[in-house]
Amino acid sequence: MKTNYYITTSIPYLNGQPHLGHALEFVMADVLARSARQNGHPTIFSTGTDEHGAKVAQAAAASKMTPQAYCDHLSLEFKHLLKLLGISADRFIRTTDANHEKRAGLIWKALSKDIYKDQYTGWYDVKQEEFIPIGKADPERMKPEHPQAYQRLEEENYFFRLSKYNDQIKKAILSNSFQILPQTRRNEILSLLEEGLEDISISRPKDQLEWGIAVPGDTTQVMYVWLEALMNYITVLNYPEGSDFKDFWPANVQVVGKDILRFHGAIWPAMLLALGLPLPKTLFVHGFITVEGQTMSKSVGNGIHPKEIVNKYGLDAFRYYFLRHIPSYDDGDFSWQTFDAAYNNELANELGNAVQRTVVMIEKYQDSVIGTIPPATHDNAAIAKAIELCKFDRALDEIWQQVRGLNQYIDEEKPWEIAKAKDKDHLQEVLAYQVSCLMEIADLLTPFLPETASKIQGIFNSEKVKPLPTTLFPKLDIPEKQ
Ligand code: MSP
Repeated sequence: MKTNYYITTSIPYLNGQPHLGHALEFVMADVLARSARQNGHPTIFSTGTDEHGAKVAQAAAASKMTPQAYCDHLSLEFKHLLKLLGISADRFIRTTDANHEKRAGLIWKALSKDIYKDQYTGWYDVKQEEFIPIGKADPERMKPEHPQAYQRLEEENYFFRLSKYNDQIKKAILSNSFQILPQTRRNEILSLLEEGLEDISISRPKDQLEWGIAVPGDTTQVMYVWLEALMNYITVLNYPEGSDFKDFWPANVQVVGKDILRFHGAIWPAMLLALGLPLPKTLFVHGFITVEGQTMSKSVGNGIHPKEIVNKYGLDAFRYYFLRHIPSYDDGDFSWQTFDAAYNNELANELGNAVQRTVVMIEKYQDSVIGTIPPATHDNAAIAKAIELCKFDRALDEIWQQVRGLNQYIDEEKPWEIAKAKDKDHLQEVLAYQVSCLMEIADLLTPFLPETASKIQGIFNSEKVKPLPTTLFPKLDIPEKQ
């Protein structure tokens, strides 16, 4: 029996439509989940939506809706996105689910030995849902006229003894029992720990913010949205008594973006340590996407709904671009022009062509009969390693080596000349080798481009080739640039 595998994404706030950043994270996590399943691991892949807090409450008010109705509506948009992108999530948690709310209360109580009441005087950044201590605040954003001005808070709330866990977290990171990828992000957290973590506020007075989960035993306070949202990773497994929790925690990989590293690399591990639970094995931190070189923003109006891209190029082309052309360990850019080029050159000309040529030749020279396919021949350890390290771009580079290698093989062997020479046995051997390579490529592509992989398998998995109604990636007609 293979070991269990648990993978999570962060849960996006419901304050606007899903965007390319969310899509990137879903697609990356999906590769890990599909790869684990392909390797026979019982897998839980969880995602969901983060629905409480000031940011969501403000967005709901701006839409003149109650927070709950607003969340019900937007949460569906995220579910649609998962479907659109072929994301194989097993769980979708909403932090307004009764089960989450109930278990969040249990967790708060279990943390109570590390919780105390105190006065908070400082700033609050609604955009990041973050308490900003006085010394760390950006002076520009203290000005009320700033478009993203902080709120000034002077209130009594609950604090969590984050400082107490500083050294334990550091030790776990240094020993790699809690692995943070990539190295740059690991270093970032280590330097934060070197400075020393301070205790943090973990509640808001209910008269300041109503939209949250009540603090157990204190009707005047609601839980700080981050504290409660982080809990989703275990409430979804029915912590504490659920069998999924017992069988699947700790998570194998938690996938998050670089802006929420501190929450996942410091606060979440401290909460887990306070609960006496093991830390996730790996925290993978992806970068940020820009659109045509610019930060995505509502005011610039450069937000592209993932739907627009999928409608133009198809689902697997979307996944391909985001996994190979957005650097897995760094920031990346989306541009229509780069997408067009990747689609035509790599998907249509390289992969699509290798399949098409093989199909056409088997039809033409062998009356569609494939013959005996030899076993796969490549050593794919580097690809497995790349996936393990969440280097999706690297894994696809390696797979593409095989695609290019196959096209080169066809160009060099020239099966059409073997056909002319009527060397049937040799021709059969060459074409069957091509099929073997394509089946191997399909297997490797399964976690990345699941539809394409199963289409390729469908073409070659019987005695005769079964061509698709259209070629795999029909070439786009791109107008020449003036
Ligand atoms: N609600 C919190 C997460 C709570 S997890 C317990 C949150 N939500 S978010 O909607 O702001 O972000 C969700 C994810 O999308 C984060 O991992 C974030 O880094 C990612 N991205 C948001 N904008 C992004 C880009 N422009 N590019 C890539 N990912 C980005 O944070």
